[in-house]
Amino acid sequence: MSADTSDNHPLAKILGNVFLVLVPGALIVMLGYIGYQFVSGIGPEKKPEAAATPVAVASTPAPDSAPAPAAPSSTDPAATPPAAPADGGSAAAVDPAVMALGKASYMTCAACHGPDGTGLKVGPALMAPSLVGSELLLGDPNKSLLVVLKGIAKENMDFMGVMAPLGAALDDQKLAAVLTYTRNEWGNSAPPVTVEQAAAARAKFAALNAPAGVKRAEVDAVIEAHK
Ligand code: HEC
Repeated sequence: MSADTSDNHPLAKILGNVFLVLVPGALIVMLGYIGYQFVSGIGPEKKPEAAATPVAVASTPAPDSAPAPAAPSSTDPAATPPAAPADGGSAAAVDPAVMALGKASYMTCAACHGPDGTGLKVGPALMAPSLVGSELLLGDPNKSLLVVLKGIAKENMDFMGVMAPLGAALDDQKLAAVLTYTRNEWGNSAPPVTVEQAAAARAKFAALNAPAGVKRAEVDAVIEAHK
Protein backbone atom coordinates (compact mmCIF):
# COMPACT_ATOMS: atom_id res chain seq x y z
CA MET A 1 0.00 0.00 0.00
CA SER A 2 2.56 2.47 1.13
CA ALA A 3 4.78 1.29 -1.75
CA ASP A 4 2.01 2.25 -4.18
CA THR A 5 1.68 5.77 -2.92
CA SER A 6 5.42 6.34 -2.89
CA ASP A 7 5.53 5.08 -6.49
CA ASN A 8 2.77 7.38 -7.65
CA HIS A 9 3.97 10.39 -5.78
CA PRO A 10 7.11 11.31 -7.78
CA LEU A 11 5.31 10.71 -11.04
CA ALA A 12 2.40 12.88 -9.97
CA LYS A 13 4.90 15.52 -8.92
CA ILE A 14 6.64 15.46 -12.29
CA LEU A 15 3.33 15.56 -14.15
CA GLY A 16 2.21 18.37 -11.89
CA ASN A 17 5.33 20.36 -12.67
CA VAL A 18 5.02 19.73 -16.39
CA PHE A 19 1.43 20.89 -16.18
CA LEU A 20 2.43 24.03 -14.30
CA VAL A 21 4.99 24.86 -16.98
CA LEU A 22 2.92 23.92 -20.00
CA VAL A 23 -0.33 25.67 -19.13
CA PRO A 24 1.08 29.17 -18.58
CA GLY A 25 3.33 28.57 -21.59
CA ALA A 26 0.34 27.78 -23.77
CA LEU A 27 -1.51 30.82 -22.43
CA ILE A 28 1.42 33.09 -23.25
CA VAL A 29 1.64 31.69 -26.77
CA MET A 30 -2.13 32.13 -27.19
CA LEU A 31 -2.12 35.69 -25.90
CA GLY A 32 0.85 36.47 -28.08
CA TYR A 33 -0.96 35.09 -31.09
CA ILE A 34 -4.12 37.05 -30.31
CA GLY A 35 -2.00 40.17 -29.87
CA TYR A 36 -0.30 39.53 -33.18
CA GLN A 37 -3.65 39.09 -34.94
CA PHE A 38 -4.83 42.33 -33.40
CA VAL A 39 -1.77 44.31 -34.43
CA SER A 40 -1.55 42.83 -37.91
CA GLY A 41 -5.28 43.47 -38.31
CA ILE A 42 -4.62 47.19 -37.95
CA GLY A 43 -1.59 47.17 -40.19
CA PRO A 44 -1.22 45.03 -43.33
CA GLU A 45 -4.93 44.18 -43.63
CA LYS A 46 -5.61 47.69 -44.88
CA LYS A 47 -2.84 47.66 -47.45
CA PRO A 48 -4.80 46.40 -50.47
CA GLU A 49 -7.32 49.13 -49.80
CA ALA A 50 -4.47 51.65 -49.76
CA ALA A 51 -3.16 50.52 -53.10
CA ALA A 52 -6.55 51.24 -54.61
CA THR A 53 -7.08 54.60 -52.90
CA PRO A 54 -4.59 56.82 -54.78
CA VAL A 55 -5.97 55.57 -58.10
CA ALA A 56 -9.50 56.38 -57.01
CA VAL A 57 -8.41 59.80 -55.74
CA ALA A 58 -6.55 60.57 -58.92
CA SER A 59 -9.29 59.52 -61.34
CA THR A 60 -12.46 60.57 -59.49
CA PRO A 61 -13.42 64.23 -59.56
CA ALA A 62 -14.32 65.61 -56.14
CA PRO A 63 -18.07 65.38 -55.53
CA ASP A 64 -18.50 68.95 -54.31
CA SER A 65 -18.20 71.92 -56.60
CA ALA A 66 -15.57 74.03 -54.83
CA PRO A 67 -12.30 72.04 -55.00
CA ALA A 68 -8.89 72.10 -56.64
CA PRO A 69 -7.26 75.46 -57.17
CA ALA A 70 -5.08 73.40 -59.53
CA ALA A 71 -7.85 72.91 -62.07
CA PRO A 72 -7.78 76.33 -63.80
CA SER A 73 -3.99 76.42 -64.21
CA SER A 74 -3.88 72.91 -65.64
CA THR A 75 -6.14 73.93 -68.52
CA ASP A 76 -3.49 76.17 -70.06
CA PRO A 77 -0.13 74.48 -69.50
CA ALA A 78 1.45 76.64 -72.19
CA ALA A 79 1.00 79.73 -70.01
CA THR A 80 3.07 78.35 -67.12
CA PRO A 81 6.79 77.58 -67.37
CA PRO A 82 7.12 73.77 -67.07
CA ALA A 83 10.16 73.98 -64.79
CA ALA A 84 8.27 75.44 -61.81
CA PRO A 85 7.04 72.76 -59.36
CA ALA A 86 3.90 74.86 -58.84
CA ASP A 87 3.70 75.80 -55.18
CA GLY A 88 0.12 76.92 -55.72
CA GLY A 89 -1.32 73.49 -56.44
CA SER A 90 -0.75 70.42 -58.52
CA ALA A 91 -2.49 68.21 -56.00
CA ALA A 92 -4.08 66.00 -58.64
CA ALA A 93 -0.86 64.31 -59.71
CA VAL A 94 0.54 62.51 -56.67
CA ASP A 95 3.02 59.73 -57.44
CA PRO A 96 1.43 56.43 -56.24
CA ALA A 97 4.86 55.21 -55.08
CA VAL A 98 5.17 58.27 -52.83
CA MET A 99 1.65 57.68 -51.50
CA ALA A 100 2.57 54.05 -50.73
CA LEU A 101 5.75 55.08 -48.88
CA GLY A 102 3.74 57.78 -47.10
CA LYS A 103 1.09 55.32 -45.98
CA ALA A 104 3.74 52.94 -44.64
CA SER A 105 5.47 55.82 -42.85
CA TYR A 106 2.13 56.99 -41.45
CA MET A 107 2.31 54.04 -39.02
CA THR A 108 4.48 56.45 -36.99
CA CYS A 109 1.54 58.82 -36.71
CA ALA A 110 -1.44 56.45 -36.59
CA ALA A 111 -0.93 55.61 -32.92
CA CYS A 112 -2.19 59.12 -32.14
CA HIS A 113 -3.84 60.50 -35.27
CA GLY A 114 -5.64 57.22 -35.96
CA PRO A 115 -5.68 54.97 -39.04
CA ASP A 116 -8.30 57.21 -40.66
CA GLY A 117 -6.59 60.49 -39.72
CA THR A 118 -9.41 61.73 -37.51
CA GLY A 119 -7.51 61.22 -34.25
CA LEU A 120 -7.43 58.01 -32.23
CA LYS A 121 -10.29 57.84 -29.74
CA VAL A 122 -9.59 56.94 -26.12
CA GLY A 123 -13.05 56.68 -24.63
CA PRO A 124 -14.57 60.13 -25.09
CA ALA A 125 -11.15 61.77 -25.58
CA LEU A 126 -8.82 62.03 -28.55
CA MET A 127 -5.13 61.19 -28.59
CA ALA A 128 -4.49 63.86 -31.22
CA PRO A 129 -6.41 66.27 -33.46
CA SER A 130 -7.91 65.23 -36.77
CA LEU A 131 -5.64 65.74 -39.75
CA VAL A 132 -8.65 66.00 -42.05
CA GLY A 133 -8.88 69.61 -43.19
CA SER A 134 -6.09 70.66 -40.78
CA GLU A 135 -4.74 74.08 -41.68
CA LEU A 136 -1.34 73.29 -40.13
CA LEU A 137 -1.12 70.24 -42.37
CA LEU A 138 -2.57 71.60 -45.59
CA GLY A 139 -1.06 75.08 -45.63
CA ASP A 140 2.56 76.08 -46.27
CA PRO A 141 4.53 72.77 -46.16
CA ASN A 142 6.97 74.42 -43.74
CA LYS A 143 4.24 74.34 -41.07
CA SER A 144 3.74 70.59 -41.06
CA LEU A 145 7.48 70.02 -41.58
CA LEU A 146 8.18 72.15 -38.52
CA VAL A 147 5.53 70.36 -36.44
CA VAL A 148 6.82 66.90 -37.35
CA LEU A 149 10.52 67.78 -37.06
CA LYS A 150 10.25 69.65 -33.76
CA GLY A 151 7.04 68.38 -32.18
CA ILE A 152 4.24 70.57 -30.92
CA ALA A 153 4.09 71.96 -27.41
CA LYS A 154 1.39 70.65 -25.09
CA GLU A 155 -0.38 73.71 -23.73
CA ASN A 156 -3.67 72.23 -22.55
CA MET A 157 -5.52 68.96 -22.06
CA ASP A 158 -7.39 69.03 -25.37
CA PHE A 159 -5.63 65.84 -26.44
CA MET A 160 -4.27 62.84 -24.56
CA GLY A 161 -1.12 62.53 -26.66
CA VAL A 162 2.02 64.63 -26.73
CA MET A 163 3.63 65.00 -30.14
CA ALA A 164 7.36 64.65 -29.68
CA PRO A 165 9.91 65.66 -32.34
CA LEU A 166 9.85 62.91 -34.99
CA GLY A 167 12.69 64.11 -37.21
CA ALA A 168 14.95 61.27 -36.12
CA ALA A 169 12.32 58.65 -36.98
CA LEU A 170 11.87 59.77 -40.59
CA ASP A 171 14.51 60.42 -43.24
CA ASP A 172 13.84 63.21 -45.76
CA GLN A 173 12.18 60.82 -48.21
CA LYS A 174 9.80 59.38 -45.61
CA LEU A 175 9.14 62.81 -44.12
CA ALA A 176 8.15 64.18 -47.52
CA ALA A 177 6.12 61.05 -48.30
CA VAL A 178 4.18 60.96 -45.03
CA LEU A 179 3.20 64.61 -45.42
CA THR A 180 2.33 64.15 -49.10
CA TYR A 181 0.21 61.15 -48.07
CA THR A 182 -1.63 62.89 -45.24
CA ARG A 183 -2.17 65.98 -47.44
CA ASN A 184 -3.86 63.79 -50.06
CA GLU A 185 -5.70 61.12 -48.08
CA TRP A 186 -9.14 61.09 -46.38
CA GLY A 187 -10.41 63.79 -48.70
CA ASN A 188 -7.46 66.11 -48.08
CA SER A 189 -5.96 67.70 -51.16
CA ALA A 190 -2.75 69.74 -51.27
CA PRO A 191 0.40 69.79 -53.38
CA PRO A 192 3.00 67.12 -52.58
CA VAL A 193 5.79 67.96 -50.14
CA THR A 194 9.08 67.34 -51.95
CA VAL A 195 12.18 65.65 -50.60
CA GLU A 196 13.99 68.94 -51.27
CA GLN A 197 11.50 70.85 -49.09
CA ALA A 198 11.93 68.26 -46.33
CA ALA A 199 15.73 68.44 -46.50
CA ALA A 200 15.68 72.25 -46.54
CA ALA A 201 13.34 72.37 -43.52
CA ARG A 202 15.48 69.90 -41.59
CA ALA A 203 18.55 72.04 -42.27
CA LYS A 204 17.01 75.40 -41.43
CA PHE A 205 15.14 74.26 -38.30
CA ALA A 206 18.10 72.19 -37.01
CA ALA A 207 19.40 74.93 -34.74
CA LEU A 208 15.95 75.79 -33.38
CA ASN A 209 15.93 75.07 -29.67
CA ALA A 210 12.43 73.86 -28.77
CA PRO A 211 12.85 70.71 -26.67
CA ALA A 212 9.17 70.62 -25.70
CA GLY A 213 7.97 71.33 -29.22
CA VAL A 214 6.95 74.48 -31.03
CA LYS A 215 3.98 76.38 -29.63
CA ARG A 216 1.01 76.39 -31.96
CA ALA A 217 0.76 80.20 -31.92
CA GLU A 218 4.46 80.55 -32.77
CA VAL A 219 4.55 78.36 -35.88
CA ASP A 220 4.18 81.24 -38.33
CA ALA A 221 6.75 83.41 -36.55
CA VAL A 222 9.30 80.57 -36.45
CA ILE A 223 8.87 79.97 -40.19
CA GLU A 224 9.20 83.69 -40.86
CA ALA A 225 12.42 83.81 -38.83
CA HIS A 226 13.93 80.87 -40.76
CA LYS A 227 13.23 82.00 -44.31
C1 HEC B 1 2.35 60.49 -29.57
C2 HEC B 1 1.23 61.03 -30.30
C3 HEC B 1 1.46 61.63 -31.67
C4 HEC B 1 2.16 61.11 -32.74
C5 HEC B 1 2.90 59.79 -32.81
C6 HEC B 1 2.03 62.07 -33.80
N1 HEC B 1 1.29 63.13 -33.39
FE1 HEC B 1 0.82 64.76 -34.52
N2 HEC B 1 -0.07 65.59 -32.89
C7 HEC B 1 -0.25 65.01 -31.67
C8 HEC B 1 -0.91 65.93 -30.77
C9 HEC B 1 -1.29 65.64 -29.32
C10 HEC B 1 -1.13 67.11 -31.50
C11 HEC B 1 -1.78 68.40 -30.99
C12 HEC B 1 -0.91 69.04 -29.94
C13 HEC B 1 -1.69 70.05 -29.13
O1 HEC B 1 -2.28 70.95 -29.72
O2 HEC B 1 -1.72 69.88 -27.93
C14 HEC B 1 -0.60 66.85 -32.84
C15 HEC B 1 -0.65 67.78 -33.87
C16 HEC B 1 -0.30 67.51 -35.18
C17 HEC B 1 -0.50 68.40 -36.28
C18 HEC B 1 -1.22 69.73 -36.20
C19 HEC B 1 -2.66 69.43 -36.48
C20 HEC B 1 -3.62 70.56 -36.20
O3 HEC B 1 -4.35 70.97 -37.10
O4 HEC B 1 -3.68 71.00 -35.05
C21 HEC B 1 -0.01 67.79 -37.39
C22 HEC B 1 0.00 68.33 -38.80
C23 HEC B 1 0.51 66.50 -36.98
N3 HEC B 1 0.32 66.37 -35.63
C24 HEC B 1 1.08 65.60 -37.83
C25 HEC B 1 1.65 64.40 -37.41
C26 HEC B 1 2.33 63.48 -38.28
C27 HEC B 1 2.47 63.65 -39.77
C28 HEC B 1 2.78 62.46 -37.51
C29 HEC B 1 3.62 61.28 -37.92
C30 HEC B 1 4.83 61.55 -38.63
C31 HEC B 1 2.35 62.73 -36.14
N4 HEC B 1 1.66 63.92 -36.13
C32 HEC B 1 2.60 61.91 -35.05
C33 HEC B 1 0.16 63.73 -31.32
C34 HEC B 1 0.92 62.90 -32.10
